[in-house]
Amino acid sequence: MIIEETEFKMKDGRTAVIRSPRDEDIPGLLEYLVISAGETDFILRYPEECDKYNAEAEKAFIDRLNASETGAMLVCIVDGKLAGNCEINWSNRIKTGHRASIGIALLKEYWGQGIGTRLFREMIRIAESNERLTQMELEFIEGNSRARALYEKMGFRITGMRPNAIRLKDGTLLNEYTMIREIKR
Ligand SMILES: CC(C)(COP(=O)(O)OP(=O)(O)OC[C@H]1O[C@@H](n2cnc3c(N)ncnc32)[C@H](O)[C@@H]1OP(=O)(O)O)[C@@H](O)C(=O)NCCC(=O)NCCS
Repeated sequence: MIIEETEFKMKDGRTAVIRSPRDEDIPGLLEYLVISAGETDFILRYPEECDKYNAEAEKAFIDRLNASETGAMLVCIVDGKLAGNCEINWSNRIKTGHRASIGIALLKEYWGQGIGTRLFREMIRIAESNERLTQMELEFIEGNSRARALYEKMGFRITGMRPNAIRLKDGTLLNEYTMIREIKR
């Protein structure tokens, strides 16, 4: 679905824009995918696993999400540069269509500026406007205290832990936590 453009002030006073992705964002999205993968161990890809991403595939991906009735991507733009994005998706299946799944990542230079909070507010608004959804779900990797703090602030609670779900290149094994936020209307 398409989400209308909104603006807000970041903690450092700059103006950020949140909206659905457009074709003009594709170069920024491709750059972001590789850079963000190298900046944190808390997202699922390594930079060298980004080969499959190219302009054509990215366009197909954003076109599909923009046209979808069961999900949306939001990008955040600061001074004309793509700072990060988030996604909310749910299925249209009878048994699982009440559950929305969430993902978010920003480039490191934009962490701690309130962007995550604003993107979450928007995703909560999207979920609350869909009568069928009753809960929002996400996962975070052990040690990601910034993400955990954001999620708890936005009303999510830990519901479970998958032991050793993540294995880093150096062999370190990390647990993954699942969180849920019930939708109140
Ligand atoms: C996790 C992430 C999305 C958070 O977004 P953000 O824009 O940095 O978050 P915000 O600035 O809105 O901060 C949200 C809350 O986090 C907490 N927080 C901020 N800095 C923190 C820090 N250094 N350590 C722990 N918690 C912190 C605060 O409670 C803050 O709320 P407040 O501003 O009301 O005090 C972002 O840091 C990111 O993209 N990280 C890398 C990718 C990633 O980990 N994605 C999530 C995968 S599960």
